[in-house]
Amino acid sequence: MTIEEAIKNRHAVRAYKDAPIAQDIVERLREEVTACNNESGLHLQLVTNDKEAFNCLMARYGNFKNVANYFVLVGHKNDPQLDRKCGYYGERLVLLAQQLGLNTCWVTTSFKKNNERMQLTDGEKLVCVIAVGYGETQGKGHKTKSISDVCAMEHLSDTFRKGIEYALLAPSSFNQQRYKIEIVDGKGTVTPKWGLYTKIDAGIAQYHFDQAFV
Ligand SMILES: Cc1cc2nc3c(=O)[nH]c(=O)nc-3n(C[C@H](O)[C@H](O)[C@H](O)COP(=O)(O)O)c2cc1C
Repeated sequence: MTIEEAIKNRHAVRAYKDAPIAQDIVERLREEVTACNNESGLHLQLVTNDKEAFNCLMARYGNFKNVANYFVLVGHKNDPQLDRKCGYYGERLVLLAQQLGLNTCWVTTSFKKNNERMQLTDGEKLVCVIAVGYGETQGKGHKTKSISDVCAMEHLSDTFRKGIEYALLAPSSFNQQRYKIEIVDGKGTVTPKWGLYTKIDAGIAQYHFDQAFV
């Protein structure tokens, strides 16, 4: 599956099959986690075969089912770019997971944070997690803003337009898409608007946008 197909096919999936992720796929995901950590300075983790984190009322209210694997997004709490970086590198893991035949859902609220499988050292903060596994379904598309809702520029190159289309297909908290896309220091940049989790969302959308230029 190409990265474009992964971008187009990915949807939030909350109910999973009760089946472990194949070992070679777990290893490929761990490799990517390490690569992301080396590049970003984050402390991303992949936890497998743990049903405890999503064994709570909030997860059931949120329609999560059979979540046994998840990425944990952690980094230095003093890093001013922490949320954005977690969004950016977390989405890199999401799209790889999609390419490997898995499904995902970003999760900020519906899980237990005091879980011994999540490793946090002094000075680190848990930003959120991403559920991953074999979905019961492939999910469905979200309602989306239009290009002119998020970008005020008049003359867009084909590649820049494609980047915005990719960004608009990205997951965002509450599907809010609260960002604008503009040129900053000569580069197409997703700038968050004020609001809850908007910096994470902007990092996610930036990763999608950048795929148009790869
Ligand atoms: C940062 C972030 C946090 C999210 N938190 C939750 C959550 O706590 N619970 C939940 O059910 N979905 C959560 N979502 C999933 C969004 O609701 C979902 O991505 C959005 O509605 C768009 O749908 P799509 O992912 O299918 O395109 C979150 C998404 C993002 C990006």
